[in-house]
Amino acid sequence: MAETQRHPFLHGLSKHRGAPPTVVVIFGASGDLTARKLIPAIYNLSHDNLLPADFFLVGYGRKPMSDDEFRTLAREAVGEFSRRELNPGVWERVARHTSYVAGGYDEAPAFERLARHIDAIEAGLGRDVQRLFYISTPPSVFAPIIENLGASGLAAKHLGLPHHSKVVIEKPFGRDLDSARRLNDTIRGVFQEEQVFRIDHYLGKETVQDLLVQRFANSIFEPLWNRNFIASVQITVAEEQGVGSRGGYYEQSGALRDMIQNHTMQLVALTAMEPPVSLEAEAIRDEKVKLLRAIQPLTIGPHGDVARAQYGPGLTGGKPVPGYLEEEGIDAQSATETYVALRLSINNWRWQGVPFYVRSGKRLARRVSEIAINFRRPPGTLFAQGGRFDLAANTLSFQIQPDEGLSLILNTKIPGLETRTQPVKMSFRYATTFGSNTPEAYERLVLDAMVGDGTLFIRGDEAETSWKLCTPVLDYWRSVGREGMESYPAGSWGPAGAEALLSAGGQVWRQP
Ligand code: NDP
Ligand code: BG6
Repeated sequence: MAETQRHPFLHGLSKHRGAPPTVVVIFGASGDLTARKLIPAIYNLSHDNLLPADFFLVGYGRKPMSDDEFRTLAREAVGEFSRRELNPGVWERVARHTSYVAGGYDEAPAFERLARHIDAIEAGLGRDVQRLFYISTPPSVFAPIIENLGASGLAAKHLGLPHHSKVVIEKPFGRDLDSARRLNDTIRGVFQEEQVFRIDHYLGKETVQDLLVQRFANSIFEPLWNRNFIASVQITVAEEQGVGSRGGYYEQSGALRDMIQNHTMQLVALTAMEPPVSLEAEAIRDEKVKLLRAIQPLTIGPHGDVARAQYGPGLTGGKPVPGYLEEEGIDAQSATETYVALRLSINNWRWQGVPFYVRSGKRLARRVSEIAINFRRPPGTLFAQGGRFDLAANTLSFQIQPDEGLSLILNTKIPGLETRTQPVKMSFRYATTFGSNTPEAYERLVLDAMVGDGTLFIRGDEAETSWKLCTPVLDYWRSVGREGMESYPAGSWGPAGAEALLSAGGQVWRQP
């Protein structure tokens, strides 16, 4: 695509992101997510001088650990998982304000100790600090942690002031509509909505944020972004990896809960929502909720809108891999799906009659997430070739990951004396234009939570609206067990049933 020009306007967009003095408390501090994502994110924010000068990290968990042991664990996590190599000077800035409090998640006295620990930090500093509680534990203890944050007074600390306490809640946010409502009730009993940051890490990805910029900062797309010009939309969130060591968790979850209800539906909402009145969090969330509400209930069962499957044995990266039912921790009769495809109908003025096909699965042919907008075919009469009118449909695809970028398929004249056409691809790649060391999603999300910007987080009603669509499917599957469960070879693009969802509309899945 055309060379990108460095324009002074670009500099004008970088705003100072000053967060107040903050104590980040991580619940589940000895866990996998803390090591792989949260500590490296904090380290990289420190590297980029984006943390407040008075920044404190407190690990919390049941595992007994000294402050020094937690610092060592955290330093090792940076060494192993950070996108940048560990710089001892940068790490030292974080480490000297890092400590650990041991306690249970349902132990009121331990939360009193935590409160005193933070009060002591505040007293030592001689000024107020914001408390940011990051709940990075298994969901079974989300509710007791929230209740104890309420009972100990930690949740209400500095309420009414800009540096009021905040809470970040990891996924999964419930396992169906009822449990999501109960979790929201628990949260609302303790926190006000502006204090709450429900994570969907896809929203922290640069390319997902760029979707809004592409749609609303360029005037060429919006006039075409509707049923008059777009024939269909395909959204793919494909993974090459299997369940690995997370079998215990995955068996209780499956692809619909793990990837569709949250990450994939967020991509649908951002692709299809109306232009928001501003870039304020509430304006964007309002539009997302309106869009999610406009999605029609799914027809479930034979010839319906849903396909599900499990991966069988196959090849990944040229190596043989076991099927889902042979993986560690998986029941040999498991009815948990590792692949889901849906055909969504959005019943509003803009999209009525335009199918949105979405799919997500593990052990697919390659790791790729993309949004492909298929425009209507041009009338072919002018460019018949050999008596056939086979101009390609223009397709605009946003490659979310990897190899992040954007491409457009156009019909072009093949040089020569005859008028023959060929589809060509115009591409823009982030790495080529901007370099490849972009911040990880969790860096942006931790920083946004610290500054109190909820734009890239899920509002309570948004989570519930998405569950409302998915829960009848989960209920139906529970009632039929393995009936209708297809299989696909590991390393393939999924089951036949997913193809059938599209073939009814005369289409096929892209092979991105
Ligand atoms: P872990 O299983 O590593 O658990 C985190 C910590 O919670 C553990 O170190 C442990 O600390 C405590 N814990 C573990 N099991 C229990 C239990 N049954 N009851 C109470 N406490 C327990 O989880 P992850 O770090 O993998 O995930 C944390 C959260 O982040 C989850 O909600 C997960 O869904 C979400 N998430 C994780 C991702 C990942 O890649 N890991 C990706 C996306 C989301 P201690 O014993 O010291 O209390
Ligand atoms: C997590 C899911 O939310 O997202 C995992 O629980 C999945 O199963 C992961 O592998 C994918 O995230 P990413 O950023 O690698 O696409």
